[in-house]
Amino acid sequence: MIAASAQTAKHYDAIYSGVPLLDDGGRAVSAHGACILKENGKYYLFGERHSDTSNAFAGFNCYSSADLYNWKFEKIALPVQPSGRLGPNRVGERVKVMKSPKTGEFVMFMHTDTLGYTDPVIGYATSKSVTGPYVFRGAILFNGSPIKRWDMGSFQDDDGKGYLLIHEGDIYRLSDEYTRIEEQVLANMSSGCESPAVFKKGSTYYWLSSHKTSWERNDNEYYTASSLKGPWKAGGNFAPAGTLTWNSQTTFVLPVIGASDTTFMFMGDRWSYPKQESAATYVWQPLVVNGSVLSIPAFQEAWTIDLKTGKPASSVVPGKEIPASDANRVGYTGAWRPVSSLPEQRSSDEEGARCTVAFTGSRIAWYGQSTADGGYARVTIQKNGRLVLSSLVDMYCKNPNTSLRFISPVLPKDSYTLAIEVAGEHGNWSDKRKSMYGSTGNRVSVERFVVSDK
Ligand code: GAL
Repeated sequence: MIAASAQTAKHYDAIYSGVPLLDDGGRAVSAHGACILKENGKYYLFGERHSDTSNAFAGFNCYSSADLYNWKFEKIALPVQPSGRLGPNRVGERVKVMKSPKTGEFVMFMHTDTLGYTDPVIGYATSKSVTGPYVFRGAILFNGSPIKRWDMGSFQDDDGKGYLLIHEGDIYRLSDEYTRIEEQVLANMSSGCESPAVFKKGSTYYWLSSHKTSWERNDNEYYTASSLKGPWKAGGNFAPAGTLTWNSQTTFVLPVIGASDTTFMFMGDRWSYPKQESAATYVWQPLVVNGSVLSIPAFQEAWTIDLKTGKPASSVVPGKEIPASDANRVGYTGAWRPVSSLPEQRSSDEEGARCTVAFTGSRIAWYGQSTADGGYARVTIQKNGRLVLSSLVDMYCKNPNTSLRFISPVLPKDSYTLAIEVAGEHGNWSDKRKSMYGSTGNRVSVERFVVSDK
């Protein structure tokens, strides 16, 4: 996405989920299947670097942040290799990084595969510095053999032992260097599951994972145990049924440890195939952990975290509302219609149809309805006819819901124009078994805008 000009300083003041997150250069953060590692007081986000044109491995990106809201692009921590398991036209997913307490080395784990997902193997890479570049070492071995599996995660216990988590509910204990596997501690605990993540609170371990629906979201589930070896007890969904885990798939849980509290931050992916670079977003929510009960009872469209205390707080998108029906403030070109069940909304599936709002302030937010026939929207903010930022928003969701679709970072207070254009395209894909998923139309809807001058 287009970078803002140098004088338009931008920042975020909270965690916003399911909306485009722009990095320090104004580009969409591309770090899916991610994890976050804290090192020397800074947070490092590692994730899959995607393109909008192919599912081929494009490297693993690394970003850094002091506050978990604003992310600086560091580098491609592991680039496409000249050949081999992470060479051209291969798949590389679900990157996880841990620091070995024994060697002080950073070890990166990932799922490597063919483009058709026919050669899954868990690989690893190492680096002396957190941001890399990491050196790819090939398959991680257990008794001399590779682990021929796909979705994976990692977990570091409080005693420094490192573990690999594998879909279907397998756990392997790593050597102290994290470069070999020493023992399988769990097998087939939750068959049918993908995208595993584990965290520990007190003496309880929590396992989170999705069902197998490719890039489509489903109601993810959790299990608890007092030992990684089990027995594990099924806890059911951790987000209300039907929300499809607030429209995301688990990838990691980050413990944010403060002086008085620890917030366990759920990290999920809202995939957007094929436009995974521009339009896939992040769902980061504070988990409510109550004994053996885990939940994200309500979606926090904005929340903050006090890194000193470790306490999370709900936030709101500040500002004055402009309804989509306000003809004095909101301009439309092309065919936009009221939505029959939601008369305050306007929607269009006509390619090139535009909705514009001129505003004076420092920030604008857009709310609209995602639907099963939702398509892509091109969002731009201009100042005096010059582009300040641009973004791509995916309006698809299997189960309709109205919520925040875009929020700009805080910009210098000025007069701007926000434009939302119907791209005339939508996301869809087939899974590993060739079943079709995704949107059936190109619809974009607007319900209201919120403009703020702070
Ligand atoms: C998902 C998996 C993702 C990716 C995708 C491809 O189920 O969790 O990491 O592999 O399938 O369809």
